[in-house]
Amino acid sequence: MSNTIERYQNLQIHRAKTLEDKKKCESVRIKVFVEELGYPRELRGLDSRDATAIILLATVDDIKDGVKNTPIGTIRMVPSKDDNHSGTLSRLAVLSQVRGKGIGGKLIHALEVAAKEEGRKAIMLECQAHKRGYYETMGFVLEDDTIHMRVGAPHQQLWKRV
Ligand SMILES: CC(C)(COP(=O)(O)OP(=O)(O)OC[C@H]1O[C@@H](n2cnc3c(N)ncnc32)[C@H](O)[C@@H]1OP(=O)(O)O)[C@@H](O)C(=O)NCCC(=O)NCCS
Repeated sequence: MSNTIERYQNLQIHRAKTLEDKKKCESVRIKVFVEELGYPRELRGLDSRDATAIILLATVDDIKDGVKNTPIGTIRMVPSKDDNHSGTLSRLAVLSQVRGKGIGGKLIHALEVAAKEEGRKAIMLECQAHKRGYYETMGFVLEDDTIHMRVGAPHQQLWKRV
């Protein structure tokens, strides 16, 4: 049996409705997409779609540093303008130090629950080919073989009924 005490505890996922919580989500997006992956900040900071989106914030308590409710993950779903029953998942980000613990999967699941509560029946997303497998393990299926160019990179569309 291992004696290792898990450093990050008490995972909480909740809806970010206040500007303060949305800013916490933005700080995770900036760390992951801008500082780690090199996206331009203007493409991954808060934008006009965040006003109507479902945005979720994941926090943990950092036992080593004694910090509670530290933001470590986020995801959003922008409701479709064309219909009342779907939405687009994006901005899924989990800080590198807490990856591989199922937090991304829990964020996706919590988003599905929140979308369903709002009457949405399906969630769409666009991702690069190397991320497709991740979403497929989460139950998303490929829409078709069409390649969409986004931020200069080929993306494919997947969807999931919720
Ligand atoms: C994608 C991301 C959110 C996943 O977060 P996470 O908390 O590590 O996710 P989970 O712990 O739920 O799942 C990790 C599992 O998915 C697997 N996985 C990761 N990428 C994968 C891929 N492209 N294909 C198949 N499986 C993949 C991992 O191997 C891991 O499996 P394991 O638990 O058996 O080791 C995180 O890696 C991240 O923030 N990446 C950078 C930002 C990003 O790419 N966002 C998505 C934009 S499309």
